[in-house]
Amino acid sequence: MVDFRIAAPGDQGLVVELMNELIVELGPSDEMETILGHLDQDIETALGAPTTRIILAEVGEDVAGLGRADILSRDPIFRLRKNHRCGYVDQMYVRKRYRKTGIGRSLLTRCEDWLRDQGIGHCILHASLSAVGFYARADYIPNREMFKKL
Ligand SMILES: CC(C)(COP(=O)(O)OP(=O)(O)OC[C@H]1O[C@@H](n2cnc3c(N)ncnc32)[C@H](O)[C@@H]1OP(=O)(O)O)[C@@H](O)C(=O)NCCC(=O)NCCS
Repeated sequence: MVDFRIAAPGDQGLVVELMNELIVELGPSDEMETILGHLDQDIETALGAPTTRIILAEVGEDVAGLGRADILSRDPIFRLRKNHRCGYVDQMYVRKRYRKTGIGRSLLTRCEDWLRDQGIGHCILHASLSAVGFYARADYIPNREMFKKL
């Protein structure tokens, strides 16, 4: 049985531990040390921000994964519209032993539900290539965003 709860400031160590695992697994090719060094501060800020929600999945005493939703007020495409805010889903991570059991989808749905409750009408994200299929299963459409390293 999986329990889901909103992460609180007291969960900072736990969230940082999970994020470390995610970053090491996805392995950004550059600046790994810098990114890991900024993690503590980033998570502390996120856990205190009204525009961010981090959700934890727990199986008994064990933490199985997490998901994060942010409200962005400066989506460059929507900034001139009446409802210019958008949701941004990030830091979706399920520990390997718990994958493919529906936990990732439940975390994502909870992130989306929270965004919807905040009056947010659409959501964007950057998918790692290995997770594109996961987001596609949840009806995310490749759209707009392209990337080039300069
Ligand atoms: C991506 C991730 C969060 C998925 O979590 P999960 O708990 O295994 O996903 P679920 O079991 O809820 O899967 C939901 C659906 O997506 C599918 N799915 C899951 N991972 C998939 C993948 N990598 N590629 C294609 N489909 C995938 C499942 O088969 C399931 O399909 P269904 O609707 O037909 O049943 C997890 O694999 C993970 O943490 N990966 C490493 C970190 C990562 O890449 N995070 C994303 C960063 S952008």
